[in-house]
Amino acid sequence: METAKKKRKKIKVFITGGAGFIGSALAKSLMDRGDNVVLIDNFNDYYDVNLKKDRVKKLLKGYDFKLYKADIRDAKALERIFKKEKIDKVIHLAAMAGVRSSLLDPMLYEEVNIRGTMNLLEASVKHKIKNFVFASSSSVYGNNTKQPFSETDSVDTPISPYAATKKATELLAHVYNHIYGLNVTALRYFTVYGPWGRPDMALFKFTKNMFEGKAIDVYNRGKMSRNFTYIDDIVSGTIAVMDNCSGYDVMNIGGDREDTLMRYIEVLEENVGKKSKKNLMPMQPGDVPTTVADISKLRKLGWEPTTRIEEGIKNFVDWYKEYYKIK
Ligand SMILES: NC(=O)c1ccc[n+]([C@@H]2O[C@H](COP(=O)([O-])OP(=O)(O)OC[C@H]3O[C@@H](n4cnc5c(N)ncnc54)[C@H](O)[C@@H]3O)[C@@H](O)[C@H]2O)c1
Repeated sequence: METAKKKRKKIKVFITGGAGFIGSALAKSLMDRGDNVVLIDNFNDYYDVNLKKDRVKKLLKGYDFKLYKADIRDAKALERIFKKEKIDKVIHLAAMAGVRSSLLDPMLYEEVNIRGTMNLLEASVKHKIKNFVFASSSSVYGNNTKQPFSETDSVDTPISPYAATKKATELLAHVYNHIYGLNVTALRYFTVYGPWGRPDMALFKFTKNMFEGKAIDVYNRGKMSRNFTYIDDIVSGTIAVMDNCSGYDVMNIGGDREDTLMRYIEVLEENVGKKSKKNLMPMQPGDVPTTVADISKLRKLGWEPTTRIEEGIKNFVDWYKEYYKIK
């Protein structure tokens, strides 16, 4: 006899960086399954602010949600929001996110990524939040030579200020779990791509330059590979973790196939419909040649990445052409 499925209780999720690439896609997916979301974003100009505004205005069009334009460095503003909103769970994604730009302004990275995260951990403990899931990064593995990267590998030697701030947040989160019992999981995201993606990331820059007939900068002369991870897979994995988060945990979240940068560019060329002109460049300081994820831990929650680059890049280029009105 079939047992009736218990109806899932609707929850209120606070998403920091809600106008960001991952935050906005996550908000949409959570609302699609019936949850309430409250977003916070400071709409900084690290990249085109209009894209952030449009994610909220167009991608989330027709949805009912609350959006605060505020800064996670402002503990008082966070306190007001937590007090008012009666939040159940936190997904903390707001950050200064670029590896290369963290070398130019490391202090800003420290302020937003470390202090901002502490403000959120403090508020979460005070307001008895059940689960706190936050974005760490594959960059914490630095120049780890053991592949694939596993959560049990030592990550004590980051090679950029950005990576060091992410590692610092993992350490801080452990403290808040240990002392206050906050359920907290750090998700180490591996190179995320897809529609509404970030203009500072390779796929966006390559696509833009190719449509404009300009050359693309290919670092380490193309000798790079990544577990490129499609946005929908990131969203489903993040939600699975939020639903199951308990104690303290660190998890990789990445695609299940290692693709070379050259293959990534080849698929892009097929979708843009022209060959790229390439500037073969040396390795950038702070960057790493290979990031491959061991995702067996997250798989145990029943999660599986399902989108290959052939499909994911097509979806990105389709979105790009529509958004930027390219014939
Ligand atoms: N996209 C990736 O490939 C990737 C890989 C590894 C880790 N991550 C991490 O995932 C998270 C989300 O990344 P994303 O790709 O969506 O980046 P994103 O830059 O698109 O989103 C981050 C959002 O946070 C907001 N923000 C920044 N500082 C803030 C502040 N002080 N107060 C309030 N809001 C602030 C920004 O305005 C932005 O909208 C980040 O923590 C990033 O470090 C992303």
